[in-house]
This record gives sequence, structure tokens and C-alpha cells, in this order.
Amino acid sequence: MESPRYTSVAVALHWAIAILIVGQVAVGLYMHKLPNISPIKFDLYQLHKSSGLTILALTFVRLGWRFSHRPPALPGDMPSWQKLVARATHWAFYALIFLTPLAGWAMVSASPTDIPTKWFGLAGVPHLPFFDGVANRKGVEDILKEVHEYLAFAILGLLALHVGAALKHQFFNRDGVLQSMMPRSRGQWASIAVILGALGAASGFYLFGPAPQASAAFEPTIQTENVGANWTVDYDASRLVFIGEEKGRRFEGAFEQFTAGISFDPDNLTTSSIEVEVPTASAATGDDLRDASLPGAEWFGVREFPAARFITTDIHSLGGNAYEAVGTLTIKDIGLEIMLPFTLDITGDNAIAAGGVDLVRTDFDLGAASSWLDEENVALNVRVEFEILAVRKN
Ligand code: HEM
Ligand code: HEM
Repeated sequence: MESPRYTSVAVALHWAIAILIVGQVAVGLYMHKLPNISPIKFDLYQLHKSSGLTILALTFVRLGWRFSHRPPALPGDMPSWQKLVARATHWAFYALIFLTPLAGWAMVSASPTDIPTKWFGLAGVPHLPFFDGVANRKGVEDILKEVHEYLAFAILGLLALHVGAALKHQFFNRDGVLQSMMPRSRGQWASIAVILGALGAASGFYLFGPAPQASAAFEPTIQTENVGANWTVDYDASRLVFIGEEKGRRFEGAFEQFTAGISFDPDNLTTSSIEVEVPTASAATGDDLRDASLPGAEWFGVREFPAARFITTDIHSLGGNAYEAVGTLTIKDIGLEIMLPFTLDITGDNAIAAGGVDLVRTDFDLGAASSWLDEENVALNVRVEFEILAVRKN
């Protein structure tokens, strides 16, 4: 008589999840050790999170199946203490493959850097909501990081016991326990291959597919054709950059979009004015890991504060081609008066304005959580510089 077997669904899910988990631990340990400047680190984190969340979803399905389908009975001649250990191991496994990805998800949700998770680059996964009001999110993240790591190691420990038992049944007891979980039919092999193949394809698509488009949630409120504006900005020839320092290293970023309405007459400064609006989501520094955190609530909070603005209240001459604009800079709804020195060179109908200002980022609630306040991490001073080419309207 053929010994009883696990159902096809149970077999397919058992092996697909087992293979995914081993890969998950390997990627987790590897990516964690990579230096931040590694070009693949960000992608590996995204893939680890994507496949980890998939394991969580498959585990839901698997538990649902387990509760509605009775597994085959253990061999009748097995001592009852062994049956007990077998059952305890299985339930501990179910708990671990559920709690490990959940702890990972909670960890990235608690993180004050708010790095978004995009499932294989295809769809945004919301963060768990429990951490919004927590004061010390970094501390909670650190604890969950430890929990996630220890749970993953517990899976490995249990796996050693589990595989040892399977081999003992196979070669010592020869009681068909291993066979009861082995894929048999082509359909079972195919189901495992489909699950792993789909995730492999999704990873390939994420790594080598088309780059995602920046979202265009920003609607400029400053019309470049403002009444009174007598200059048109040539945006392709203009740049707005910021310079900071992270872990003692200088980095430069740019706002890839901005709009400016400029009414300027060197002979009539009292009626001159400049308004600049910058979509904060357009900030880019060329470092994936950093750029993924810039839109988060901890930095620009682009969802709540899509734009930063500078509106002048007074422009005066400093002699020669030098001027100073006094105005209100508003970032994250915090408006502060700043003095912005710049030079202006007009040749024919073209004007080039260049200048810059030093800001203290925490004045605008940028990276104010304790983890970023460590000066060594990200310096408090950020310099903003611009060079704008404007053409006189006729
Ligand atoms: C069964 C599923 C999972 C397993 C077995 C697993 C395993 C691991 C392992 C072994 C590490 C390395 C730990 C270290 O060296 O500190 C790790 C790191 C990490 N995991 Fe997972 N993980 C799983 C699911 C997830 C999920 C679902 C997420 C998030 C949505 C996630 C997020 C992370 C992050 C962000 C790290 C890096 C922590 C750091 O660099 O400090 N993991 N994971
Ligand atoms: C991380 C990887 C693995 C996990 C999470 C895992 C988990 C589980 C769970 C939860 C069960 C119980 C199914 C039930 O009755 O509800 C089970 C059964 C089983 N597993 Fe694994 N497993 C893994 C890897 C392996 C490996 C590598 C082997 C083979 C060498 C294996 C062989 C078996 C066998 C033979 C059974 C049936 C045992 C019985 O009927 O008592 N598993 N596994």
C-alpha cells in the first residue's frame, strides 16, 4: 500500500517557500554587509523586501490550506516524544516564516528614513501604520532589526533539526516520511517552478526593465507667464543645486525641476521681484539609497509638502553687478527670512544670475530625527546654489 502523502498544494508551497527562504537569508546577510556606496545595495534591499513580502503572502495561503487540509499521519511506530517534537518543530516553523517577514516589514515601517518599498518596482507597498506617532522610531527600528535577524537565524537552526529528522526517517527508519513531502507528479514540479520562475522574472524585470517614471504630482502655482514677469527662464541652461556632507563626504544634488517668475529691472529695484517654486520630489543626488529617502517624511515629506518656495520682499544693489535679495524661503511650510546675495550679468537680452546661500537644514525640519543629527552622519549645513539664464521678454 502506498503511504499517505501531502496534497499537491502543500508540497508545492513547502518547497517553493523553503527555497525562497534560503535565498532570502543569503541575500539578507550579503546585502547587509555591502558598503552604502555599493551600486547594487539599494536594489538588493528592494528585492529582499519584495520577495520577503511574497513569502509572507504565500505563508498566509499555506496556513489557510493547512487548517483546511489534514496532513498525513506520522508513522504509527514513531515514539510519542518524537511525534511531539515533530509537531512542535512544524508549528514553530509556521510561526517563524510568518513572524520573520512581518518583523522585516515592521522594521522598514518604523525606520525614520521612510524608504519606500516597491514590490519588484511594480507597486508601492504601504508601510505598517503603527509607528507614525512613535517618538523614537530609530530605537524601535534597531530593536526590530535585531528581532528580524534572530528570527531568521532561528529558522536556520530549526532547519538543521528538520533536515536531520527527514534524513533519519529516510535512511534509518525508511518509513516514507520524506516521500510524503517529495514532489511527484509533473504538475507538482511545475507549480514549484512557476512560483520560483515568477519571482525570478519579477526580479529580472525590476533590475533590467524600464526605469520607473518620476511621479508628476506637482502642479506649479507660479505661472512663468506671470503678469509683470519680464524675463523667461531658460530651464535647460539653468541649475539649482544643493551641496551637503554625509559621513564626512561631500555630495552634490540638484532639483531637476523648478519654476521662476522674474520681474527685474536693475534701474527700478523697488518694483522688482522674484518668485521661485521647487517641486521637492525633483531632488536627486545620484545615490539611490539617499535619493530614496529624500522624499520621506523625515526629509522633504513630498506627499505633504510637494513644493518649496522663495518669494522676495526686497532686492537691493550691493554695487556693480552684485545684488542681495531678501525674501521668505518656505520648506515644509516653515517660512524663514533669508538674505540671498547674487550677481547679475546682462548682455543684450540675456541675463545670468548666480548666487547661493548657506542653510541649516534642521531650521526647516529636514532630517531632524536623532539619527541624522549626528553631525558625522549628515552635516547640518547645506549650501544651495543657483545659476539661472533668463531671456528678456519683448
Ligand atoms: C522569510 C522572510 C525573510 C527572511 C528569512 C529574512 C532574512 C534576513 C536576514 C538573514 C537578514 C540579514 C540580517 C543582518 O545581517 O542584520 C535580513 C536583513 C534585512 N531584511 Fe529580511 N528577511 C525576510 C523578509 C524581510 C521582509 C519582508 C523585509 C521588509 C519588508 C525585510 C527587510 C530586511 C532589511 C531592511 C534588512 C537589512 C537590515 C540591515 O541592513 O540592517 N526582510 N533579512
Ligand atoms: C526553510 C525551509 C523549510 C521550512 C520552513 C519547512 C517547513 C516545514 C513545515 C512547516 C512542515 C510541516 C507540514 C505540516 O505537516 O503542516 C514540513 C514538513 C516536512 N518537511 Fe520541511 N521545511 C523546510 C525545508 C525542508 C527540507 C530542506 C526538507 C528535506 C530535506 C524538508 C522535509 C520535510 C518533510 C519530509 C516533511 C514532512 C514531515 C512530516 O510529515 O512530519 N523540509 N516542513
